[in-house]
Amino acid sequence: MKLIVIIVLLIIFNCLKCESDKCFHQDDHPFPFFASKTAYSYVSAKQNYTQPNCKPLQLWLLSRHGTRHPGSSTIDKISNLNEYKNNLTNNSSLCKEDFEAIKTWIFNLTEKDGDKLNNQGVNDLLSLGLRLQSLYEDIFDQPYNPITYSVLSTNKERSRDSAFYFLKSAFNVNVTDIPLINSDDIKLNISKFEIINDNEESKKFRSSIHMQNVIIRVSNILGLDRNLALNTIKSMYNSCRFERSVDLNSHPAWCAVFSQEDLEVLEYDEDLKYYYSNGYGNSNNERLGCPIVKDLINNFRNKSQAKPGPKGVFYFGHSSNVFSAIVRLGFARDTTPLLSSNFNDMRDRKWKSSYLSPFASNLMAVLYECQGEKKVTFFVNEVPMTVEKYGCTLCPWTSIENMFDPIVSSPSCTFDENNSSASRAFTTTNILFLACLIQFFIIHRAFF
Ligand SMILES: *[C@@H]1O[C@H](CO)[C@@H](O)[C@H](O)[C@H]1NC(C)=O
Ligand SMILES: *[C@@H]1O[C@H](CO)[C@@H](O)[C@H](O)[C@H]1NC(C)=O
Ligand SMILES: *[C@@H]1O[C@H](CO)[C@@H](O)[C@H](O)[C@H]1NC(C)=O
Ligand SMILES: *[C@@H]1O[C@H](CO)[C@@H](O)[C@H](O)[C@H]1NC(C)=O
Ligand SMILES: *[C@@H]1O[C@H](CO)[C@@H](O)[C@H](O)[C@H]1NC(C)=O
Ligand SMILES: *[C@@H]1O[C@H](CO)[C@@H](O)[C@H](O)[C@H]1NC(C)=O
Ligand SMILES: *[C@@H]1O[C@H](CO)[C@@H](O)[C@H](O)[C@H]1NC(C)=O
Ligand SMILES: *[C@@H]1O[C@H](CO)[C@@H](O)[C@H](O)[C@H]1NC(C)=O
Ligand SMILES: *[C@@H]1O[C@H](CO)[C@@H](O)[C@H](O)[C@H]1NC(C)=O
Ligand SMILES: *[C@@H]1O[C@H](CO)[C@@H](O)[C@H](O)[C@H]1NC(C)=O
Repeated sequence: MKLIVIIVLLIIFNCLKCESDKCFHQDDHPFPFFASKTAYSYVSAKQNYTQPNCKPLQLWLLSRHGTRHPGSSTIDKISNLNEYKNNLTNNSSLCKEDFEAIKTWIFNLTEKDGDKLNNQGVNDLLSLGLRLQSLYEDIFDQPYNPITYSVLSTNKERSRDSAFYFLKSAFNVNVTDIPLINSDDIKLNISKFEIINDNEESKKFRSSIHMQNVIIRVSNILGLDRNLALNTIKSMYNSCRFERSVDLNSHPAWCAVFSQEDLEVLEYDEDLKYYYSNGYGNSNNERLGCPIVKDLINNFRNKSQAKPGPKGVFYFGHSSNVFSAIVRLGFARDTTPLLSSNFNDMRDRKWKSSYLSPFASNLMAVLYECQGEKKVTFFVNEVPMTVEKYGCTLCPWTSIENMFDPIVSSPSCTFDENNSSASRAFTTTNILFLACLIQFFIIHRAFF
C-alpha cells in the first residue's frame, strides 16, 4: 500500500516537474495553426507544381490580402492585456523565461494601425507575384497592361495594397490606380457576406467542456485563483497569433499560456464560425460564391474558344471571398457537418480555416493546352486540388465546364442580399430559387 502511494507520488511529482520544465521559449516548432491568422508559408505548397507537357493559356487568381495588423477594436482589447500581465502570480506554472516575457511584454500598435497591411503582408504578395511569374512564364510574358491582365480589388486599403505589391513583383511596375469594384459589382463586394459570430453551434461550443477546460488551464498556468473571462483569453489568443503572423520565428509572450490542445480547441471555435458564416453550414453560402465562380468559368470558356480575353485575371479581397469560391467549387467539404458536439471526431476535418484562409490565401485556376486538349487545375494556396467527382487534378476542361455550367448559368446564380438570408419567409423569389435548386439537383444526379 505504502509502495503504491510512493509510486503514485513519484509519478505526480515527475509530471509536475516535466510540466514546469516545458518552456514555450525553447520550443523550436511551436504549433503554427491559428485559423484565419495563420502565416501563409505554414500551409502553402511545399513544392512547385508545373505541367511539363502543357502550356498555360490563362491564369485566374483570387487572393486574400496579405498579413495585416489587428482591427482597431482588437487592438484595443489586446492593449487591455497590460492589466493582466500584472496579475501573473508566483503560483504560475510558467517557466522563468515565459513568465518574464509576459511581465515585460509591450504592445505598441495603436488604433490608427488597425487593419493595415504590415511588412509581412507586403512580403506575402511580393513573393507570390515573383513565384507565379517564374512558374508561369507564358502568362507573365507581356508588360503590364489592363487589357492582357485584368485586375480588380475591393475598396479596402489592405486589398488595394496587396494588388499593388503583387503587380510590382510580377511585372516590375508601380500601378497606383488599381481598379476597384464599383457599386454594381456582384463578384467581390463583401458587404454581402455577414460574419455571424453567434451561430448556435459556436455558442454551444463556447460553453462546452473543451472550451471550459481552456479557460481553466490558462487561468491555472497564470497562477490565478479564479477563472478568466473567455474574452480575455481570446485577447491573449489574438495577441499570440497576430505577433506570430508578423514574425514567423518569434515566440510571442502570450502564446506561452496555451497548450497545443488549447490552440486546437480555439482553432475549432474559429472553424465553426467560418463554417456557418462562409462555409457549408449554410446552403446560402454556396449561392453567394456563384458569381465569382461564374466569372472564372466564363473566362475559361472564352479562352478555350480562342475568343479575346485576358491572359491573367487577378482579384484581391478578403477571406470571405476566398471561402465563397472554395465552397461553390466544392472543395474541403466534409461528409459530417461541424457541430459543437463533435470536436474530437472532426480532428481530421477538411474544413480547417488555417489551411483554407491563412493570410494571403488564394484560390487559383489555370487553363492549359496539353497536346491539343484543354485542361484545368485548381489550386488552394498553390496546392493542387483534386476534383472529387472525377478524381483528377489536371482535369479535362469539358468535364469542368459540364460540371459547373448548370450552376453558373442558373438564374439563381445571383449575389442578391434579398436572396441570401436563410431565415427569410417564403416569397415568390424564394420559390423561384427553390425551383432552381431542385433543377440543380436533378442535373447533378445525372452525373453521379
Ligand atoms: C519554386 O519556384 C520558385 C520560383 O522559381 C523558386 O524560387 C522556389 O525555390 C521554388 N521552390 C521549390 C520548393 O522548388
Ligand atoms: C488583476 O489585478 C487587478 C489589480 O491589480 C484586479 O483589480 C483584477 O481583478 C485582477 N484580475 C484578475 C483576473 O485577477
Ligand atoms: C499561491 O497558492 C497558495 C496555495 O493555494 C495560496 O495560499 C497563495 O495565496 C497563492 N499566492 C498567490 C500569490 O496567489
Ligand atoms: C514572488 O517571488 C519573487 C521572487 O521569487 C519575490 O520577490 C516576490 O516578492 C514574490 N511575490 C509574491 C506576491 O509572493
Ligand atoms: C513595436 O514592437 C516591435 C516588437 O515588439 C518592434 O519590432 C517594433 O519596432 C516596435 N515599433 C515601434 C514603433 O516601436
Ligand atoms: C516604383 O516606386 C519605387 C518607390 O517610389 C521606386 O523606387 C521604383 O523605382 C519604382 N519602380 C518603377 C518600375 O517605376
Ligand atoms: C457593396 O454593396 C453594398 C450593399 O449593397 C453597397 O452599399 C456598397 O456601396 C457596395 N460597395 C462598393 C464598393 O460599391
Ligand atoms: C466572354 O466573351 C464575351 C464575348 O464573346 C464577352 O461579352 C464576355 O464579357 C466575356 N466574358 C468574360 C468573363 O470575359
Ligand atoms: C431588398 O428588399 C427590400 C425590401 O423588400 C428593398 O427595399 C431593397 O431595395 C431590396 N434590395 C435589392 C438589392 O433588391
Ligand atoms: C433573387 O433571385 C431570383 C432568382 O432566383 C432573381 O430573379 C431575383 O432578381 C433575385 N433578387 C430578388 C430581390 O429577389
